[in-house]
Amino acid sequence: MNDKYLNLVNSPAGKAVASRVGLPRPAVLRRYRPGAPLLPGPALANNAGVAKGLDIEVRDADDGEIRWAALLYDATDAAAVSDLVPLREFFAGTLRRLAASGRVVVLGRPPDGTDPAVDATRQALDGIVRSLGKELRAGATANLVLVEGDASPESTLRFLLSGRSAYVDGQTIRVGPGVAPTEDPARPLDGKVALVTGAARGIGAAIAEVLARDGARVVVADLPMAGERLAEVANRIGGSTLQLDIAGPEAPATLLGHLGERHGGVDIVIHNAGITRDKLLANMKSEQWDSVLAVNLESQLRINTALLGSAVLHFGARVVCLASTSGIAGNRGQTNYAASKAGVIGMVRSYAPAFARRDATINAIAPGFIDTDMTHAMPFATREVARRLNSLQQAGLPVDVAETAAWLSSPSAGGVNGQVVRVCGQNLVGA
Ligand code: NAI
Repeated sequence: MNDKYLNLVNSPAGKAVASRVGLPRPAVLRRYRPGAPLLPGPALANNAGVAKGLDIEVRDADDGEIRWAALLYDATDAAAVSDLVPLREFFAGTLRRLAASGRVVVLGRPPDGTDPAVDATRQALDGIVRSLGKELRAGATANLVLVEGDASPESTLRFLLSGRSAYVDGQTIRVGPGVAPTEDPARPLDGKVALVTGAARGIGAAIAEVLARDGARVVVADLPMAGERLAEVANRIGGSTLQLDIAGPEAPATLLGHLGERHGGVDIVIHNAGITRDKLLANMKSEQWDSVLAVNLESQLRINTALLGSAVLHFGARVVCLASTSGIAGNRGQTNYAASKAGVIGMVRSYAPAFARRDATINAIAPGFIDTDMTHAMPFATREVARRLNSLQQAGLPVDVAETAAWLSSPSAGGVNGQVVRVCGQNLVGA
């Protein structure tokens, strides 16, 4: 599942041909490598204080020469349309010197309904960042962080600046109160027990690998018929297996029993297992409808309700649910799948306050086009078009979703709750 076009246009000969005939040239993205610095170069910030706690070099003045690894703009005080002028000036002078795979992060405040002029200004940031994401090239991304009150954006900034967020672009992430980061950024999940469903292959296997790399003890679950591949994943990461149909009537009880008795409870649950049974609604059979809703949505609802009602789910737990951009934008032939994935988004928003009462969080990830067996089953032409229809002009990799799941699972991401983070390279279709 390697991207032959991306490899070709990044080879010395391909580069020259692509630029001569004006072909799009998707960049090789900067991805996280353990031990690599958070940013490969200096960042420019209008308020160097925003980088507090991050191990990066931050400057507050531009000399007109430096290639910036990141541009950080603090607009948390913006309260009038005229307050956006300095933002324009900051970026107009510097964007051309943003390095490849550079990061633009704007900090703002969530609109709160108290003053139309203030809310208009705050919402304007969303439009700016989404447009900027579409203007950036060479693998650079732009994202907005909305900070509530005196919440700390440190964990979210660390994620967005790092190579972990390579395929997260044009997003708005809201941060509320949470614990200050105390974990080791290299092993943020040390001592945690994690469950990943649908982990025999694809995104689930990548999530299991990344959680284990970050220090978690991982239980990988999948259907009995995927048992062999599941065991291979578990062996690779030093984890353990659970063969289970998550849509079966006994699944919540089996899962909780296993986690409680064998592992002393669970800190991280990643609901990744999912299926597609695409058909136009006019031709959709009840089996196609029912199975997709049962696996992708109803199983998550039943397991989450059981977890919330049980001490098996540890205080301060993290639950991450796989949605999809199809659940946000809709997709022809996927009314069943989009219903299930939009349902996941509604579910996490609704559960969030109940999880917060246990110091826990529940969030959704909406992947766009990710190179896996699931998308490999698409017809060739549809697949080639779909993988270019985003600001980064390429498909994401399973590891991109996995890095986002690991960040949302970390103790310091406690301020992010009830949110949907899209890992879609800023998909150009839909929202
Ligand atoms: P995949 O088809 O490669 O892997 C899914 C795994 O889930 C398989 O190992 C399968 O055996 C397991 N599974 C299916 N039904 C199960 C059940 N009832 N009980 C236990 N395990 C079950 O899929 P992929 O591409 O890795 O997707 C993972 C998740 O990400 C899914 O929820 C999918 O909807 C979502 N997603 C994927 C996108 C993509 O581009 N690949 C885009 C958007 C969302």
